[in-house]
Amino acid sequence: MMKSRIRFSFLTTLVLAIVLLGISSPVVARDGATAVKEARSLPQVRGGIVFKSYCILCHGEIGDGIARASKLYAPEKLIIGKMDEKDYESIVREGGVGVGRSEYMPPWDGELTEEQIGDVVAYLSMLGDGVARGEVVYKTNCVLCHGVNADGKGRVSVLYDPKPSNLILSDKNTQYKMLIVTKGGEFLGRSAVMPPWGLQLSDQEIKDVVSYIDTRVVSE
Ligand code: HEC
Ligand code: HEC
Repeated sequence: MMKSRIRFSFLTTLVLAIVLLGISSPVVARDGATAVKEARSLPQVRGGIVFKSYCILCHGEIGDGIARASKLYAPEKLIIGKMDEKDYESIVREGGVGVGRSEYMPPWDGELTEEQIGDVVAYLSMLGDGVARGEVVYKTNCVLCHGVNADGKGRVSVLYDPKPSNLILSDKNTQYKMLIVTKGGEFLGRSAVMPPWGLQLSDQEIKDVVSYIDTRVVSE
């Protein structure tokens, strides 16, 4: 009697310990809804979307002035250089005219919401950094499968077999990643669940997102 009760409680403890460990261990845990929401609601991430919608036509994807509309203006003037957030904010709000510069830079006050202005200003500060731009692309397009931490534990990852790769432990080189991101898994004889992003993202965005995931790899 005594003996079986002890064994029972030992077993219960063991099971409980395994369950608790499983829940609390970050290695096993999948992204929570909050983690995904947080990753996507970073001001720079939202700002990247504002920039893409309203600014690249003139300034180009990376703010280098190489853009569709740049033929209409002197391209060298469309380069977005480094300046304080305050100065970015002034020209964005008041336009070129407001700060004694070209009238072709429109004023965005009223046109964009307060939140959008704050967000796009936050994004301008990291515009020249390919890895930071890539993080924005990643957080907008890849987290649901590959996870906020790029560890393959995205919220929908359980739905798939094979699972979205753990990009932190990837042994593939940059060229291979460029290829699979552009053409998708099926093109390389792998899972068709990995989408061909070449249809949705620009070459620049693909280059940037691969730069970002390259920096996430830890060599063991
Ligand atoms: C219709 C074309 C056009 C659009 C759209 C446009 N800009 Fe501009 N922008 C310009 C021009 C032209 C200048 C250069 C003004 C000058 O040199 O006098 C400029 C200058 C700037 C500068 C100053 C860059 C520097 O280093 O001096 C910033 C910052 C800027 N724009 C941000 C933005 C943002 C953010 C958006 C989108 C919300 C945007 N622009 C949309 C035309 C545009
Ligand atoms: C719908 C889910 C899904 C989304 C969204 C997704 N992937 Fe994937 N990805 C996968 C799956 C599944 C695999 C594994 C394919 C296999 O093993 O056959 C994979 C594989 C990869 C690989 C190969 C890694 C390696 O080491 O072999 C890379 C790189 C990659 N994805 C990058 C990305 C990037 C960057 C994005 C966002 C632009 C993205 N993926 C979005 C599902 C997804």
